[in-house]
Order: sequence, then structure tokens, then C-alpha cells
Amino acid sequence: MMAMACVRKFRFTRPLFHLQWRYYSLQTKSERPTFGIAFDIDGVMLRGRNVIGGATQALRRLFKDPSNPTELRVPFVFLTNGGGLRESERAIELSNLLGVYIKSCQVLQGHTPFRKLVNRFGDELVLAVGKGEPANVMSEYGFRKVVSMDEYASSFVNIDPLAQYKSCANQLSSHNKDLLSQLEGDVDITNTHVHAAFVVSDPIDWGRDIQVLCDVLRSGGLPGKSGGHQPPLFFAADDLEYQAAFPTVRLGMGAFRIALESIFNRIHHSALTYTSFGKPNATVFKDAEIVLQKISSSIGSETTDHPKISNAENFPTHEIKSLYMIGDNPPVDIFGARQAGLPWFSILTRTGCFSGEGNHADFPADLVVDTVEDAIDYILKKHSKEYL
Ligand code: G3P
Ligand code: MG
Repeated sequence: MMAMACVRKFRFTRPLFHLQWRYYSLQTKSERPTFGIAFDIDGVMLRGRNVIGGATQALRRLFKDPSNPTELRVPFVFLTNGGGLRESERAIELSNLLGVYIKSCQVLQGHTPFRKLVNRFGDELVLAVGKGEPANVMSEYGFRKVVSMDEYASSFVNIDPLAQYKSCANQLSSHNKDLLSQLEGDVDITNTHVHAAFVVSDPIDWGRDIQVLCDVLRSGGLPGKSGGHQPPLFFAADDLEYQAAFPTVRLGMGAFRIALESIFNRIHHSALTYTSFGKPNATVFKDAEIVLQKISSSIGSETTDHPKISNAENFPTHEIKSLYMIGDNPPVDIFGARQAGLPWFSILTRTGCFSGEGNHADFPADLVVDTVEDAIDYILKKHSKEYL
């Protein structure tokens, strides 16, 4: 049902007969390609909400019918350190922005691995920080007692001494009222210890969030109480910088982590402990490889939908011999892919964090191209012979 709704919502940005692409035809010898592609989003496909680098034309070539981009020909995923929306919602957003049909299982965000921690914290009160809908994201993963930073901060009177100077501070929007329903059962959050804090997406109000996180982490989980052990702290990613709509790079979640850590270590007797997920961690590339294999296996089968990540292990796998990471951030995307090793091949575009003439000095890619469209050109040309 969701899939059909998604297709109907497509807004194609220009008439199909105007589209031109250098199309290296992947005529079928085998229905299933032996390669897969992972796309970074910010700085490769998008800058803010603007599509860049010929991303739409490039993506259409990975579908059986580029003029009706609903059925995959080449397996691909989005492997982003961004987030803040559930994967299903992000898939719809990306479908509308990029003009091709994207399924939830193709969206791997910085916080996607948080779902692996549900066995540990699923029944405990956890704090979800960041833009978008961090509590909904965690709830979707199975966490039953999630409180967003917005609700949490507004539940403790005077916890943010600057709140009065901020517009709409201390007022829960109707959106945030909905988030209260993510707390299953009766939970008095001002009297319950937070068992873990998750920075799901880029925090908006750094001052308030650093203050409240310091309160939670120093007190053993309950602001205003005396100290206990620091609850575990998880970050969805550790990007120092990323490319958004502004001409120069913006501070990312890694910059927030540094700010929090610097302050926490100055005011607390023991150093902050934390775990960061996202690229360049090798596990992220392993997870992407598994999903790409499952998607590849579903291509050409009777199955009408791609396997869900949650039940992907029950799906037959198909061998993929080459995996391509197309990214713009050398220490994140390129280092990650190179660290993951074969069969990963890294392609650096000049549309985001990197715009140098040659290769990056410290984190050189296997290939440097101007745009994602050039990258797809290269990949499809390289693999065209497999399908002659
Ligand atoms: O906040 C998003 C940013 O840190 C990175 O996004 O798509 O470039 O991995 P992306
Ligand atoms: Mg990027």
C-alpha cells in the first residue's frame, strides 16, 4: 500500500522526452548485476534540498525503464550520516526530491544501527536528541520509552536559563505533543533515570542540549540529583563538517561532540565516554553490503518488494563482486570505503566537501570525478560487457 502511494506522489521535474543520458545499455545476460552502489546524500545528490550533479539522470539509469523509474535494474542504497526521519519517511522525501522510486530498505542513515541496541535499552527510558523526529525514529526501532530532548528540557523547570530569550521556548508544539505518545506506560520523566542518550541527528539548540546532556550524564541519569555512573552516550555519526546549501561546509555532529566533550571534561572528574556510529566505521559498510546483496537477490525475482532489513537474513543472497561508494567527504566516505576493503571501490565527487583539482592528499579515492553523473557513467561503462 505504501509503495503505491509513494509512486503516485512522484513529481517529475521536467518532461521525460527532454531527458538525455549517455546510456550504456545493460541488456540481460544475467538479470542480476554483480555490482552495487552506495550513494552519499549531502554533497553528492543534494545540497540542502537542491538536487546536484545530475543526480536524477544518474539514478534513472539504474532502473529497468529510466522513463518509469520504479523497478530496479542495478542495486543501490543511500548511505548517509544524516538523519532525523524514519527510513520510510526519508525514502518518500528522497523519492520526491530525486524523482525516482526509493524504498525504505534502500535508506541507511547514521542512526540506522541504533536499532541493534533495542535489546539493551528497549524497555528503559532513553533520551533522543536532534533535528526532525528523533523520538519517532527510536520508537520505530522498537524503543518503548523514548523522550525527545525538546520534551525533556521543557519538563524540568528552569533547566535552560536562556529559554526565555528563545522564541517559542517552553512551548510544546503540536508535533512534540505527538512525541509524548512514544513513552509507553506511565513514565514520570522528571523522576526516572535516563539509561542512555542518543544523538540521533544534528542538534538544533547546541547551548541547551549541551547543558541538559551534561546534567544527565554527570548525575547518573537524573538532572538535579547527585552523581552516579555516566549513562551510555551514542552518536549517529561523527562528521566534523558536511556540505549543505551554503557555499562552504557546515559544522556537523562531530563538531557538536567535540563541544560537548570539551565542556564535560572541564566540569566533570572523569572523561566523557561515548560511541559514534556512521561512516567511516567498517560495520556500516558491512551492513550496506548485506543490504545490497539482498536487494540484488530480489531483482528479477517474483518478489514485488525489496526485503525489509529486519527479515533480510531470511532472503536468499546473491553474490556481488564490486561495490561502489560515491561520496564527497574524504575522511568519512572515502576513508570508510578504503578501510572496508574489497570489494569496495571509492569514488570522490567534487560537488561537496572536496573540490580539489587532483585527488585528496590524506584520503585518496580510487577515482575522482566531477559529479555523481560522471561516477555512474564510469560504473555502467565498466560493467556494460557483463550484459552484452
Ligand atoms: O548531517 C548530515 C551530514 O553529517 C552528512 O550527510 O549524506 O554527506 O553522509 P552525508
Ligand atoms: Mg556527504
